[in-house]
Amino acid sequence: MARTVFVLNGPNLNALGIREPGIYGGATLGDIEKDCNDLAGSLGFKVDFRQSNHEGVLVDWLQEAGEKAAGVAINPGAYGHTSIALHDAIRSIDIPVVELHLSNVHAREAFRHTSMISPVAAGVIIGFGPGSYTLALRALAQILEN
Ligand code: DQA
Repeated sequence: MARTVFVLNGPNLNALGIREPGIYGGATLGDIEKDCNDLAGSLGFKVDFRQSNHEGVLVDWLQEAGEKAAGVAINPGAYGHTSIALHDAIRSIDIPVVELHLSNVHAREAFRHTSMISPVAAGVIIGFGPGSYTLALRALAQILEN
């Protein structure tokens, strides 16, 4: 049976496609979900793709992933810069979590240069647009292979 990988998305990512397209591009979250599903089969994964604007829901999903999933790719949105709760949730689960961002946060405002979750992530992928998601899935596949 294919291993399940959770792909979690934080606040405002439901608005991709209409939200600041100069920064985030024109792809919708639905387009990105399709990219992930298209790749997942060849990596031996089944993707469970979710988005929430609520920090606690993301915590719940990380805990659920810890029980059911082989790994997590997460675009935490702005909560990545602020959330000790996400940091704690990630360190409390025993599966690899890859942090990703569409935009190159280091080329943007200073408040985006820090991440609360990078120190507890298996790795971080930043700045490749929708490609950050498929790169994160490939990274998870590589981690899980070893
Ligand atoms: C983002 C970068 C964050 O700084 C921002 O708050 C987002 C999206 C990205 O994917 O580039 O919501 O995570």
